[in-house]
Amino acid sequence: MTLHTEKGGISRSARRFLWKLSYLQRKCIFSVLSVGRFPTHIAFIMDGNRRYGKQRNLKGGAGHKAGYLALMLMVIYCCELGIKYITAYAFSIDNFKRGPEEVQYIMDLMLEKIELELSKEDSLFSRYGVRVHFSGNMELLSDPIKDAAKRLMVATANNSNILLTVCLAYTSMNEILHAIQETYQEKLAQIQLQESISEGRISMCNPEQGDHVLKLAEIEKHMYMAIAPDPDIIIRTSGENRLSNFLLWQSANSCLISFSQLWPGISCWHLVWAVLNFQRNHYYLEKKKKKQI
Ligand code: FPP
Repeated sequence: MTLHTEKGGISRSARRFLWKLSYLQRKCIFSVLSVGRFPTHIAFIMDGNRRYGKQRNLKGGAGHKAGYLALMLMVIYCCELGIKYITAYAFSIDNFKRGPEEVQYIMDLMLEKIELELSKEDSLFSRYGVRVHFSGNMELLSDPIKDAAKRLMVATANNSNILLTVCLAYTSMNEILHAIQETYQEKLAQIQLQESISEGRISMCNPEQGDHVLKLAEIEKHMYMAIAPDPDIIIRTSGENRLSNFLLWQSANSCLISFSQLWPGISCWHLVWAVLNFQRNHYYLEKKKKKQI
């Protein structure tokens, strides 16, 4: 095996060998973790891409490109670990307020990566059985992104190892407002239908039983995140402890973990630490959940 290329970089075979070695190492560690209670859903607030770029004097939005690679590695680690749902906060509605050049860079990056995944026979998503779902207010996105996102959802719909939800043009407040509006419209349509039936003397709608009232389960059905169970763990990078309008409705019983590492520098060890933390707090969180009921 040659270790270096003529240009002085690391050779392909050496890279493959190192990846296999790290895979075996992860396999051992993950099998130890699997003795404890396992999280079903891990969500990530990918903070610190710009600072990472600045610290390394990277040009343009290259910090975001590094952030995308870190996300793909995290998808692989979570697959190997047997996690069933992961969610990534990729672009909040507030991020549209950033400079137009940066917004354009991130959108172009997303489009490029989605198109790349769609064009490859042996894509990462098909190799690891990743189903991709986009959550958020898609109306705020440009047509090419909307269209590419839809095509990726269709192309990966039959993958069943793990669901990767990418929150795009998302904020919790927008999600809640949208869910309440949709539930209200649905309820209104139901009431109108029932009133027209009751004119023919068959009444199925009883306001005294609360048929006119919006119910929690009805609102939750209309949430963008209805596709996944509530997250067990929310990981935020770059030392921030805020949720920044992410999964506010769904995080009542989540274990929140903050790392000082910037997102592109996140590693498998951070994931291991987060799962250990969850396992340590799991019985307490479960007890809390039962009390709420
Ligand atoms: C937050 O870091 C990160 C973003 C606003 C964009 C993240 C987007 C990606 C990683 C691309 C994902 C692409 C796909 C297809 C899923 P920041 O810019 O707020 O960093 P800072 O805190 O240092 O300013």
